Amino acid sequence: MSPENDPGTTSGVSPEQQAREAELLDRVLASFDATPDARMKQIMRSAVRHLHAFLRDVRLSEQEWKQGIDFLTAVGHLTDERRQEFVLLSDTLGVSMQTVAINNGAYAEATEATVVGPFFMQDSPEVELGGDISFGAAGEPCWVGGTVTGVDGTALPGARIEVWQADDQGFYDVQYGDDRVAARAHLFTDEQGRYAFWGITPTPYPIPQDGPVGRMLETVGRSPMRASHLHFMVTAAGFRRLVTHIFVRGDELLGRDSVFGVKESLVKDFLEQAAGTPTPDGRDLGARTWSRVRFDIVLAPAGS
Ligand code: BEZ
Ligand code: FE
Repeated sequence: MSPENDPGTTSGVSPEQQAREAELLDRVLASFDATPDARMKQIMRSAVRHLHAFLRDVRLSEQEWKQGIDFLTAVGHLTDERRQEFVLLSDTLGVSMQTVAINNGAYAEATEATVVGPFFMQDSPEVELGGDISFGAAGEPCWVGGTVTGVDGTALPGARIEVWQADDQGFYDVQYGDDRVAARAHLFTDEQGRYAFWGITPTPYPIPQDGPVGRMLETVGRSPMRASHLHFMVTAAGFRRLVTHIFVRGDELLGRDSVFGVKESLVKDFLEQAAGTPTPDGRDLGARTWSRVRFDIVLAPAGS
């Protein structure tokens, strides 16, 4: 076994046993030698090397491996078009955020990316600028507005902004099990790159806990709570697609988000407005309080 293939010796394991294990790993790695696609070959060999290193590091028992298989089987059984337990697993293990970090390197003042999560849906309804994306979802109204520009400050007209969020009960529309579409929409920036809409003031919520990932979090003593946030996906021709959220300054969960999604630059001031405070578009909210937040979005060039 070449040194870069072998994870090293494990204390308490005889040299003969180490050699047997290393020899098996070598044979498995060699089985990928004829892979036509070089990238595929690299990925498979690396995945196998790290998987074997993990097994040998913890000296996994056969009973524990069966438990692992049962766990992954349960994750698969729960996954369908509306429930993505594998995404949840990736999110809670920090794998999603690590992939975001690898693929969305910092670029000048471009807005930082964060995890997409399992609740983005294609084909959201379109709203006009200043429209209400809540479609009746429960929550305090929140006026969200800002601009979309490139890093040189150039306004980006016609940028597509997808937004989605949980209601104040902590649920996305798709979690209700009926066909409602609420608290999600898309809109386009105007000629000056400006956008605005009414949403809901974000509140904290737990990620779905009724499946194997929830049980895993409970077993290890971790909280399922996500810091309060509002999701964005922004696309404009010639620019890197941005998937991100904004978070609420002052939220006590900012430092212990269950999917490691918080970045300081994405924490925004949601300004609480007393009932009766005039709204930006003249909407009459009666006796309701509301909030407002500004989020200026800066896109990195495509391929950066
Ligand atoms: C979300 O923010 O929608 C989310 C992200 C990761 C896991 C679960 C939910
Ligand atoms: Fe969310």
